[in-house]
Amino acid sequence: MTELEAKSKIAELSEELRTYNYNYYVLSKSLISDYDFDIKLKELEKLEEEFPHLKTPDSPTQRVGGEPTKDFKTVVHKYPMLSLSNSYSEQDILDFDQRVRKVIGDNVEYVCELKYDGVAIGLTYKNGILTQAVTRGDGTQGDDVTNNVKTINSIPLKLRGNYPDELEIRGEVFFPLKEFKRINDERQENGLQIFANPRNSASGTLKMQDPKEVAARKLDCFLYYFPEIRNDITTHYDAMKYADSLGFKISKNTALCKNTKEIFEFINDWDIGRNNLDFEIDGIVIKVNDLEMQESLGFTAKSPRWAIAYKFKALRVETKLEDVGFQVGRTGAVTPVAYLSPVLLAGTTVKRASLHNADIIQNLDLHFNDLVYVEKGGEIIPKIVGVNTSARNENAEQVRFITNCPECGSPLQRKDGEAAHYCTNTDNCPPQIKGKLEHFISRKAMNIDSLGEGKIEMLFDSKLVNNISDLYKLDYDSIFGLEKVIISENDGKNKKISFREKTVENILNGIEQSKKLGFEKVLFALGIRHVGETVAKKLSKHFINVDNLAKASIEQLVAVEDIGDKIAESIIEWFADSRHREIIEELKSSGLNFEIEEGDIESSNKLDNKSFVVSGIFENISRNDLKKLIESNGGRNVGSISSKTDYVVAGKNMGPAKLEKAQSLDIPIISEDEFMKMLS
Ligand code: IVH
Repeated sequence: MTELEAKSKIAELSEELRTYNYNYYVLSKSLISDYDFDIKLKELEKLEEEFPHLKTPDSPTQRVGGEPTKDFKTVVHKYPMLSLSNSYSEQDILDFDQRVRKVIGDNVEYVCELKYDGVAIGLTYKNGILTQAVTRGDGTQGDDVTNNVKTINSIPLKLRGNYPDELEIRGEVFFPLKEFKRINDERQENGLQIFANPRNSASGTLKMQDPKEVAARKLDCFLYYFPEIRNDITTHYDAMKYADSLGFKISKNTALCKNTKEIFEFINDWDIGRNNLDFEIDGIVIKVNDLEMQESLGFTAKSPRWAIAYKFKALRVETKLEDVGFQVGRTGAVTPVAYLSPVLLAGTTVKRASLHNADIIQNLDLHFNDLVYVEKGGEIIPKIVGVNTSARNENAEQVRFITNCPECGSPLQRKDGEAAHYCTNTDNCPPQIKGKLEHFISRKAMNIDSLGEGKIEMLFDSKLVNNISDLYKLDYDSIFGLEKVIISENDGKNKKISFREKTVENILNGIEQSKKLGFEKVLFALGIRHVGETVAKKLSKHFINVDNLAKASIEQLVAVEDIGDKIAESIIEWFADSRHREIIEELKSSGLNFEIEEGDIESSNKLDNKSFVVSGIFENISRNDLKKLIESNGGRNVGSISSKTDYVVAGKNMGPAKLEKAQSLDIPIISEDEFMKMLS
C-alpha cells in the first residue's frame, strides 16, 4: 500500500470507528458487533504500525492505552476549578433562592441536575482534538492525566460539529456500578483487597501509571460545565445542548425549574430514582440558567454564587444479623455472607449483605444477633457499615471466620498480604471443580458455549467430567440421553435439559472447535490463580510453550513484563502439582495447543541486529526456541564464532574449543538467564 493510500484508509477507518464509538458509548446505540469493531480497530492498528508518522493523537487506537506515565505533570488551571456550596435541607435551598432573587429579581429560572459522585476533570480541546485532561487537584493546579482519560470511551478524542479553536469543558469521571461490581468480584476471587467505593476507585484509577489498566476498567464521564463559552449561547441549558452537539455525554436527567417547589419535586424524585441508576449520585445541583445572571451573581473564593448542591442523606437502615454463611468460589476463595432479618431499603427488601473477608468481620467486631446498620453504597448488594453495640446482648457470640471449607472440610489458608481465605483442596472441592470447568468453557477462555446453561454442571454431577481433560474424552454414546431439571439463569424458572441428538452434536462440535484456539487461550483457561487473560498472553509470548513455562524459575517469571512475585509464585505452585502436569499431558494428547504459533512470537528490535552463537544445552528453553527468540527480537543466529560475533549464549556442556575461541576473541559469553534479561 502506498503512503497516500494508507493515509486515506487510516482516515476512513478512524472516522468509521469514531462514529461507532460515539453511537455506542454516548448514544447507547450499537451499530456494529464487537467482533467487527475489533477487526476494524486491528486493521487501523496495523496500518499505524506500518506508517507510524500517520498516527494522530485522536486516533481511536489511543483508547486501548499508550505508554505508562511515570510522574503526572502538574498543570495550572486556566480557570480555577471551584467546588459547590452544599446544602442539606429545604430551608438551605429556600435561602439560596432568596439570595439569588435579591441580586437578579424574580425572573429567575434554574436548571436542576444530578450531582455525580466521581472525580472532577477539566478537558481541553485545541482545533477539536483532546489535548489535555487535568484533575481538580487543589483547585488551582491539578495532575495531567490525559493518557488515562483518552481510554474513556465516552470522551471524544475529536469533537464533532462546530467547535472553536480552543475549548475547555468540565465534568465528572465515574465508575459505572456494574463495572465496579465486576472488578470487585474479580478482586475478591483473586484474594485482593476490594475497593471501598466507586468514587475512590475512579480517582485511584485515573492516577494509575499504565493506561492499559485504566482502559480495562471502563470508566465513564458526564460533562456539565464550560468555564468559558461562545457569547451567542445565553443559558446553561443551551450550553449543554451545545456540548451534546460536540459529541460529549451529557445527562438527560435534568429539569428547568421556575421555583423552589419544582426544585423540591426534582430532589424528591431523584432521592428515590437514584437507586435505579448505574452510577452513584450524592445529590442534586441547582444552577441559575441564564449565563448573564450567573455573571452578575459571580463567585465567592470557593464556589459560584449561582449554584448550590443539595446532598442526599445516606440510605441506611438497622436490622438484625441472624446468621453468617460462607460461600466457596471457583478459585476456592471463601466469601462470608450476612443473613439479615428482611428490611426495606431504597425500595427493595434486603435479606443478605456481603461481608467480603475476615478483616471486615473483625473490624466490625460482629456478634450474632447484633443490630447492624446496612447501607446501599456503590455495590448492588448492600453492606454492613456499623453495629449498634448498645443493643448487644452481653452473652452474644462473636462471629468468627471458619477454619475449614464448608463444602469439603479441608483446611482454609490465608496467604500473607492477601485478604481472602482459600480452600486448599483445589482439585477435589466440588464448587472449585465446577467453577474451574465453568471458567474453562467460558467465552474468553475455550469458548465452548454449547456447554453453557447448566450443561457443564450436569456433566459434573453425572460424574462424567471430573476435570477439564475429561471433556475431551466425551463421546456421543456417553452423554446422549442425559436429563436434568435446572433453574434457568435467565428467568429463574424450572427448565428441563435433555441431551438429544442436536444438543450432543453441538456439544461435541464445540469441544472439537476449541482445539483450534491458541496457547494463550488454553493457558488462561487452565484457571491458574492470578493468571488472567493479559498475563496469559504475556506468558505465552515470552515462554513460547508450556514446557518452558513449567520449568521457569521465579527469577525468569518475574523478568516478564507485569509479572510480579505473587503471580510467579502461583505459577510455580501450580506446575509443582503432579496432577496438573498429568492434566496438561492429557490435554496435549487430545490435541490442544500448548505452543504459540510462529507468527505470534513476540517481536522487538531489542537485540539490534547483533549476532549470536548458541551453544550447549539449556535448562529452561530448547536450543531451537532460543534461536527463534533471537530472530524475533531482531538478532541474528550464526553458526560459528568469529571476530564479528557479538555474543555467545552458553548452556551446559559447551565444547571447550568454542569456549577457548570465544575467550581468545574477547567475545562476551552469556548465560541463558542473562540472555533472557536482555529481552525483558
Ligand atoms: S458544576 C463552578 N455540576 O461536585 C462549579 N458540578 O462538590 C462547576 N459535580 O466541583 C461545577 N455533579 O466536581 C457541577 N452536575 C454537576 C455536578 C458537579 C457533580 C461535582 C463537581 C463539583 C463538586 C462540588
